[in-house]
Amino acid sequence: MPVIEVRHPLVRHKVGLLREKDISTKKFRELTNEIARLLAYESTADFPLEAIEIDCWSGPAQIEQIAGRKVTVVPILRAGIGMLDGVLDMVPNAKVSVVGLSRNHETLQPEHYFERFVGHLDERTALIVDPMLATAGSMIATVDLLKRRGCNDIRALVLVAAPEGIKALNAAHPDVRCWTAAIDSHLDENGYIIPGLGDAGDKIFGTK
Ligand code: URA
Repeated sequence: MPVIEVRHPLVRHKVGLLREKDISTKKFRELTNEIARLLAYESTADFPLEAIEIDCWSGPAQIEQIAGRKVTVVPILRAGIGMLDGVLDMVPNAKVSVVGLSRNHETLQPEHYFERFVGHLDERTALIVDPMLATAGSMIATVDLLKRRGCNDIRALVLVAAPEGIKALNAAHPDVRCWTAAIDSHLDENGYIIPGLGDAGDKIFGTK
């Protein structure tokens, strides 16, 4: 079950607001980060804990802490940047790796133009962030890059996923789990998700 649609009411409410045709850049950005926080929360629910003893106001106390889990958040440029702060709010010690992929609007294939990975990827959980899982070309290419560098715990966080993208990601990387705020109907002939959000990058950055 590599794709998990997060059905929490807060997520469903917020993703509904994102679909408003005339939404402002400010509102789109805020909601994107709010949903990213909730997806980060869900996608880290299996992180192992360890017990440690601390000095509490009332004396020694046993508390739990996340057991040495190193995380890298991997925004796919450009739109993934819109989810980065939300994930870092939840995982503040995470390091950030950046991948630049743009979609060729004719072939719909990803074109790779930038990468900057943090070290020790073989010891890290990677949380890839990209708002739209459409054809999944960029997501698959990013997973390929991470695996080539030894990363073996790779998770994807997206706002909206198309069934076509889910199928392609599962076929290419069945070990990669993807948390999404919504699974939509289909892709149109231009590769946009229907009903979707439109161009998420333009909406986050205010370009058009
Ligand atoms: N990228 C977007 O921004 N929107 C889509 O619907 C598909 C890809």
